[in-house]
Amino acid sequence: MKKPIRKAIFPVGGLGTRFLPATKAMPKEMLPVVDKPLIQYALEEARAAGVEEFIFVTGRGKSAIEDHFDNSTELEQTLESRGKYELLDLMRSSMLEPGQVAYTRQQEPLGLGHAVWCARHLVGDEPFAVLLADDLVMAEEPCLAQMVEVYNEVGGNVVAVMDVPRDQTHRYGILDVIHDDGRIAEAQGLVEKPDPADAPSTLSIIGRYVLQPEVFRELDRQERGAGDEIQLTDAMSRTIGEVPFNGLRFEGTRFDCGSKEGFLEANVAFALQRPDLGADMAEIIERYAGLISRETRRVSSS
Ligand code: G1P
Repeated sequence: MKKPIRKAIFPVGGLGTRFLPATKAMPKEMLPVVDKPLIQYALEEARAAGVEEFIFVTGRGKSAIEDHFDNSTELEQTLESRGKYELLDLMRSSMLEPGQVAYTRQQEPLGLGHAVWCARHLVGDEPFAVLLADDLVMAEEPCLAQMVEVYNEVGGNVVAVMDVPRDQTHRYGILDVIHDDGRIAEAQGLVEKPDPADAPSTLSIIGRYVLQPEVFRELDRQERGAGDEIQLTDAMSRTIGEVPFNGLRFEGTRFDCGSKEGFLEANVAFALQRPDLGADMAEIIERYAGLISRETRRVSSS
């Protein structure tokens, strides 16, 4: 039996400039997909995979995240006095027990590797998960739970991967694959955001990681990589040989909620799945589909 994954890091220090002005005074991780903030989806996914301690690496202007996972006594009292018990339950689902949650700050925006490194003392010497709330995964079995199952079989580092079109490799960490059974791909190296021509494959890391603490030793070096940032991908890559590295082609659909298109699509997809909203959403889509002019559609019949 492998050491259990008890802790998860949520790097939430990023500025969210792509969603301005919405994110001027609100963290991008608080953007809702339908009616739930992105960060809560990530937290629930971690919880469903057995995580018990939640570590947020925050930055300036992110206090709404702390408030979101805290008690809200006045709101609870109001809901209770009005007999709104369903809403009360819903609210309580986003609360964390005392001592289950920790916040630390990334004081400078030096990259994802640096954000993870900021949580090193809170994690200590045990394996842990990292979840990027921008990457939202819709799946029957939550993505991180699928990864923990694989981790329990193969150990080492396990990341979620998917094949992307070659012209998009510059947006991801890419695996240099040595063995691939179609579901699990073992890597002999990793490259952060390579140009399509230089990418060793098109198998890309999405924001879910199960990592061994050895990665902190590499992050300690504070070496800069792509974009002059301290990259998690580079630190993981340097532990290959000592720590096995596998990518899992998870079952489910990933939405890139760091982009407007991905975020909008996630809203549509999650609304369609909701018993209370799905039928209305389908009607709305049909109504608008009929109204879309040929000019708006990217592919015309010409
Ligand atoms: C980060 C990682 C990258 C990974 C991606 C997944 O990049 O550095 O390796 O593929 O997340 O979303 P970012 O999107 O923060 O630029």
